Amino acid sequence: ELLEKGGFDHFMLKEIYEQPRSIRDCMRGRIYPNEGFVQLGGIKEYAEKLKNIDRIIIVACGTSWHAGLVGEYLIEEYARIPVEVEYASEFRYRNPIITEKDVVIAISQSGETADTMAAIEMAKEKGATIFGVCNVVGSSIPRLTHAGVYTHAGPEIGVASTKAFTAQVTVLTLIAFYMAQQKGTITKAKMVELLTELDLIPEKIQRALESNDLIKEIAAKFKDSRNCLFLGRGSGFPVALEGALKLKEISYIHAEGYPAAEMKHGPIALIDEEMPVVVIATKNSSYEKVISNIQEVKARKGIVLAIVTEGDTEVKKMADYVIEIPDASEAFLPLLATIPLQLLSYHIAVLRDCNVDQPRNLAKSVTVE
Ligand code: G6P
Repeated sequence: ELLEKGGFDHFMLKEIYEQPRSIRDCMRGRIYPNEGFVQLGGIKEYAEKLKNIDRIIIVACGTSWHAGLVGEYLIEEYARIPVEVEYASEFRYRNPIITEKDVVIAISQSGETADTMAAIEMAKEKGATIFGVCNVVGSSIPRLTHAGVYTHAGPEIGVASTKAFTAQVTVLTLIAFYMAQQKGTITKAKMVELLTELDLIPEKIQRALESNDLIKEIAAKFKDSRNCLFLGRGSGFPVALEGALKLKEISYIHAEGYPAAEMKHGPIALIDEEMPVVVIATKNSSYEKVISNIQEVKARKGIVLAIVTEGDTEVKKMADYVIEIPDASEAFLPLLATIPLQLLSYHIAVLRDCNVDQPRNLAKSVTVE
C-alpha cells in the first residue's frame, strides 16, 4: 500500500501532489496556445450545433457541482451562453423546462452517481443534447451521454475529491473556450493570451504546493476550531464552497462557504475571536471589496486566513495568516486557489487523527439515491 501511495502518507496527499501532472494530461492534445485554438475531439461532432445554442444546463452532485459553478462563470464570461447549474437530485424531481436546443453538461468523477444518471435520462427524454465530463473511462455516464470530454486525472482513491475537481475545472475551461471559439465571442489574440497562460498553470500549481510546510503550521492553529467560514467572490466563490466541503468531509469541522458580500446577511453574526475565516483575497476584480470584508471580520475579532497573490502587501497588514499563490487571471484563479485549501483540510484532518482517505459516513461514489 505504501508503494501505491508513492511514498505519501495518504492517497489524498498523493493526489493533491499529482495535480501539476493531471492537469497537464488533461490539456494534452487539446490546447494549441500558439495558434489560439482548442480541439475537443469528444464533442467535435456537435461543433456546428454549439453555434446556435441558447442555454446550457449543468447537472452534478457534491464536488462536481462546485466545478459546475466554475464552469458557469467561464462559459458565460467567454462564450456568452446563459448557464444554469443544478443539483442533479433536485433537477430530476422538478418539472424543468428543457428543449431540444438545450445542451446539458453532466459532471461526474465516477460516472456512476445515481442522481446524475437520472437527471441525464430525464433531459435526454425531453430531447436535450447531453455532454459528459467524467473521469472514469467506460463508466455508466459516458455511455448514457451523446458526447463528452474525459478529465483524464487517473484513478482517484481518496474519498474527498482533489485532482478530479481541478481536472473537471480544466475541462470546463476548455469547453468554455471551445464554445467561445465556435460562437465567435472571443478574438484569436485573446485565445492566444488565455491558452498561453493556461499552459503555465501546472507550473504555477507546483509553486502553490511549495506552501505545504506553512499550511501545516497554520493547520495546527486551526485544528481545534468548531466552525470555519470560507469566503470568496466571482470565480473565488465556488472555491470557497469547495474549501468548506473538503474541511467538513475529512476533519468533521463544521464549515460553510459563502459569497463574501453575503456575509453581512447572516454569517457575520457567528464571528467572534474563535471563528476562523478563510478568505480568497487574490488580486482580481473584487480585490478591494474583499479587503473591506476582511476588515469587517477583523472588527469583530475573527481570525483571518487569506489566500493572496504573491507579493501582496495590503492584505498582509490585516490578516492573521496569509498563504500566497502565483498571480493568474480570474479565469484560472480556481485552479490555483483550491490547492492551499486542499492542503489545509488535509493537515487539519491529520492533526485531528481523522481517517483522511476514508472519512466516516461518506462513499467515493453514491450509486443509490
Ligand atoms: C460523493 C463523493 C464526492 C463526489 C460526489 C459526486 O459524495 O464523496 O467526492 O463529489 O459523490 O460524485 P461524482 O462521481 O458524480 O463526481
